[in-house]
Formats: sequence, structure tokens, C-alpha cells
Amino acid sequence: MNSLTNLLGWVDARFPLTKLWKEHLSEYYAPKNFNFWYFFGSLALLVLVIQIVSGIFLTMNYKPDAAYAFYSVEYIMRDVDWGWLIRYVHSTGASMFFVVVYLHMFRGLMYGSYRKPRELIWIFGMFIYLALMAEAFMGYLLPWGQMSYWGAQVIVNLFSAVPFVGPDLSVWIRGDYVISDATLNRFFAFHVVAVPLVLLGLVVAHIIALHEVGSNNPDGVEIKKHKDPVTHIPLDGIPFHPYYTVKDIVGVVVFLMVFSAIVFFAPDLGGYFIEDNNFIPADPLKTPPHIAPVWYFTPFYAVLRAVPPMFGSQFPGVIAMGVAVMIIFFLPWLDRGPVKSIRYRGPIYKAALTLFVISFLGLGYLGMQPVTPLFTLLSQVFTTIYLAFFILMPWYTKIDKCKPEPERVTG
Ligand code: HEM
Repeated sequence: MNSLTNLLGWVDARFPLTKLWKEHLSEYYAPKNFNFWYFFGSLALLVLVIQIVSGIFLTMNYKPDAAYAFYSVEYIMRDVDWGWLIRYVHSTGASMFFVVVYLHMFRGLMYGSYRKPRELIWIFGMFIYLALMAEAFMGYLLPWGQMSYWGAQVIVNLFSAVPFVGPDLSVWIRGDYVISDATLNRFFAFHVVAVPLVLLGLVVAHIIALHEVGSNNPDGVEIKKHKDPVTHIPLDGIPFHPYYTVKDIVGVVVFLMVFSAIVFFAPDLGGYFIEDNNFIPADPLKTPPHIAPVWYFTPFYAVLRAVPPMFGSQFPGVIAMGVAVMIIFFLPWLDRGPVKSIRYRGPIYKAALTLFVISFLGLGYLGMQPVTPLFTLLSQVFTTIYLAFFILMPWYTKIDKCKPEPERVTG
């Protein structure tokens, strides 16, 4: 024991190990009233680690070559020891990342966690979300199945709708006139090295920003307002370690039960996590009858299809899709409500948030379906509600009749 203490002292004299442990864990005071919705930040960290570790092992046997990619994945599935497990953990992890991150973002919406002084946590979060979408999109090309190929073809073609530079832009992204071996190679480089590096950096920034200002909570009141006069510890705060490390372990166990149930019993989740067409090798001469992105992209895909082309150009739809994503960045400045948490908001915000969730889920469903006149109309209605939620927010949050916020957290 004594030698361990000595070793720690030696390290501490050269690196702030104990200081970091205290600042971020044993003396990081988090509000005592975290609930279910506060599991998803630590779960997102867990999935990030799962993806990096399973990804490293996949890379050992995967070949980023249009002639071999599909068969190298089959080889992993059939011949590599535990290869099927590594592959299904990684493909399930991709979808579960979005499940966790969408719930994590929804928590932010409910409790106003993006509001001052947490704007930068939100901005870093949104950059993480963009990086995650890029990571998932490029990863999906790698198995070189029919959906990999045609999904990428559709999405990269969208860039050619940009006025003037569009066609050149899409050739520049692909490195060719169609999705090809050159595209596969660069997507591999981005998926395996560049984007994960960016993602890791952003997650570190996200957590540094969080620990600078402190966590919000389901009441949306600042625990730093009431500190013990002697110790300066927030009266409603408890040390993150051991209280929330233990709580988060409960979340991790339940999450891993769901995760393994999917991996072992339904790894393609009925075509939602891995589309059926992706078990067929990519064929540049054969377009599948129905091309749809994976479920986590379908809300935005539905927005894209809801806006009709103008002068034969898909550009208006592309703009609408871009706006639907980018507008989320501005939430901290759109919300003018006097309170943060849904608990003390008035009926208007509650109705607006409910409509927003319905329209987001509705768009997600419609983005998976083939185009029909009724579905297009519904997509237009939901797109309007989705955008109105943000655009009208400065107005309806101001006139909403909120309840008074408590001084201290309510437990
Ligand atoms: C790889 C993805 C992500 C990881 C690993 C991550 C990690 C975390 C962690 C560990 C926390 C603290 C625990 C918690 O409050 O649940 C947190 C808080 C937060 N995150 Fe994330 N996050 C990710 C993505 C996002 C995204 C996409 C957004 C929104 C656009 C976001 C917004 C926030 C906000 C606003 C908080 C503060 C919440 C509060 O104090 O109430 N995060 N994040």
C-alpha cells in the first residue's frame, strides 16, 4: 500500500492525476436529482468505446478494395474466429449510437440544457452529431453491398444539385463519375482515422465545457446558486463518484442486456439495422427498386423528398434538409422562455414539443416508405411543423404561461 501511495505521489509530482480525478469525479458535484434521462451521456461514451474497439478488430480483416470489400466482410462473418460477433457488435453499435444520442438530445430539449450557460456544450454536441452522421454514412459504404453502393450514390448525387459548382463538387467527393474504388478508399480513410479523431476531440471538448459550468438537471435550476458558506460545495450537489458512477453502472448493465439481445437474436433487426439488400454485393448496373437510408437518416430524407424540385433541380429539397439539421444549432438563442425545464413550462411549449416529436417520428417513418401522393403530403405537413417548432420558438416561448421555478431542486 505504501509503495502504491509513493508511486501515486511520484506521478502526481509530474502529472495532475489526483487533481484530474478530483476535478472530474470525486469532487465534481452533480445535482442530486438526475433521473432516467441522464443515463444517455455515459451510455454514448460507452458506445463510442465499443465502436472504436470493434472497429479496430474489423479493420484487421477488412479489405477496402471494390473487388474484395464485400467478400472480406463475408470472410469475417464465416471464417474469422468470433468475426461474426465483432461485425454484429459494430453494426448494432452504429444504430444504438443514434438511439442513445437522440434520447440524449431529447433530454436537452426537455430540460433546456442548451440554455445559458451551456450553449457551448450544445454546440459541441451538434458538431458531434454532424460528425456521427458523416461517420455512419461513410461506414455504410464499406461492406460494398447494394444499399451501400446505391445509398452513397443517391446522397453524393445530392451535391450535384448545388448551383454552378454542383457537378464538379460531386466528382470531387467521389473521386470519380460514379461511386467507385476511389470512393471506397477515401471513405475508408475518413471512417477509420479522420472522423473518429475529430469525434474524440469533440467529446473531450463537450465534457470539458460541461464540467466548467456544471450539469443542468430535471428542475432546470442552477445548483451553484446555493453553496455551503464554509465548504463552497453546492447544497444540492453530490460527488459524481461514487454516487453517479454507481447509478451509471445500472444503466450500462440494462443497456448491455438490450444490446446483446439484438446482437445475438436479431442482428439485422428486421432490416432496420442492416438492410436486406446489403447482403447482396454492390452491382453498379442494377439499381435496387427501393432505395432508403438507414432509419437514423430517414427523418431528414423525408424532408428532402417533401420539397418539390424547382426548374428540374433538387436544390430546394437539399436546402430544406440542410436547414432541418443546422437549425438545431441555434436552439440556445431561439428559446426565450423564463424557465428551462418542461416541469415549469406552460401549455404552449408542452404542445409544441409533443408536436415536434410526433413530426420527427412521422418523418422518420415516411422516409422509409416509397413515395405516394398521400405520403408526400404528410411529409410536407410534418416538415412544416418541424421547422415551425424552431422558427416560431422565440415567439411562443415568450408568451407561454410558465409556472414559477423553485429556488432549490425538488428531488
Ligand atoms: C458521442 C456523442 C456524445 C457523448 C459521448 C456525450 C457525452 C455526454 C456526457 C457524458 C454528458 C454528461 C452526462 C449527461 O448529462 O447525460 C453530456 C451532457 C450533455 N450533452 Fe452530450 N454527448 C454526446 C452527444 C451530444 C449531442 C449530439 C448533443 C446535442 C446536440 C449533446 C448535448 C449535451 C448537453 C446539452 C449536455 C448537458 C446536459 C445537462 O447538464 O442537462 N451531447 N454529454
